[in-house]
Amino acid sequence: MKILITGGAGFIGSHTTELFVRDGHDVTVVDNFSTGKLSNLASVKAGIKIVELDICDTEALSIACHDVEVVLHLAAVSSVEKSIMEPLKTHEINTTGTLSVLEAARENKARRVVFASSAAIYGDDPQLPKTESSPVRPLSPYAWHKLTGEFYGRHYHLLHGIEFLALRYFNVYGPRQDPASPYSGALSIFNDRSRRGEALTIFGNGEQTRDFIHVSDIASVNLLAAKAQGSLPEIINVATGRETRIIDVARIIQAGYDNKGEIRFEEGRQGDVRRSYASTNLLAQALGYEPLVKMDQGLLSLRGA
Ligand SMILES: NC(=O)c1ccc[n+]([C@@H]2O[C@H](COP(=O)([O-])OP(=O)(O)OC[C@H]3O[C@@H](n4cnc5c(N)ncnc54)[C@H](O)[C@@H]3O)[C@@H](O)[C@H]2O)c1
Repeated sequence: MKILITGGAGFIGSHTTELFVRDGHDVTVVDNFSTGKLSNLASVKAGIKIVELDICDTEALSIACHDVEVVLHLAAVSSVEKSIMEPLKTHEINTTGTLSVLEAARENKARRVVFASSAAIYGDDPQLPKTESSPVRPLSPYAWHKLTGEFYGRHYHLLHGIEFLALRYFNVYGPRQDPASPYSGALSIFNDRSRRGEALTIFGNGEQTRDFIHVSDIASVNLLAAKAQGSLPEIINVATGRETRIIDVARIIQAGYDNKGEIRFEEGRQGDVRRSYASTNLLAQALGYEPLVKMDQGLLSLRGA
């Protein structure tokens, strides 16, 4: 299959690209390297095409999309905080950029667009677990960008017949998540600080929960979503179905390093959700997938990261 992966040099994108290459596909990566790195693709770069461009440049993107069967759209500013601080710039990339990807896919008659959406869309609606039909209550511009992307995708399906699938990833962790970024996932920051014997900072009281899923499981779901034939649901949660408290993850990571550093608590972040975990029934039914990596194994994979 000829596939184009936007954001393929990023954390999720690079693991996904590696898996597509191993599975024998013809991969083009599009990235502007704003957070992604060429070094993330070191193991596969000889066997793929890498095009440096901004997804908002629809003309260039459309050329890169020539003859592509599936577009996997991962490129985004994936930080909630950044979307609050820079709403216009992040809207441009996350919303207009997504529209640009859909346009390029339509122009080139791509069969399917798979879109990296997010659990952030559910916001603080109290219903748990989150199912794909749970109410949506976005708490940040980032969450609105993702929801708008889903609406545009549905529109392109209805109007132009492109198959569209939004994968609502929950909290993804694993190697290559940049701990140097203040916006990175909590787990990579906890891991990095614990390795150095430093104190951990938790925003809020640590009782907030998340459904953490390892990046290798995300890559597997991306591959299945691209390859699946026939009709698929419009939206699928991608998660493990397990609810974990942030304070517990912090303690497990610390214990792994014999770190006696303290855990500090700071005021909760704007737009932070209190509890979150997913129903994974649709993931099992539609794609036949059950996440493989358990939390203890997954945390070990961060050791070498
Ligand atoms: N990491 C998570 O927990 C998580 C959870 C839910 C959804 N997502 C979504 O998954 C996708 C990938 O996230 P990630 O964690 O790998 O982030 P990342 O920052 O590592 O990857 C994003 C990639 O997109 C590229 N990019 C950004 N703006 C671009 C632009 N204008 N043009 C071209 N390329 C651009 C970056 O350089 C980077 O390589 C994002 O859409 C994110 O919103 C991530």
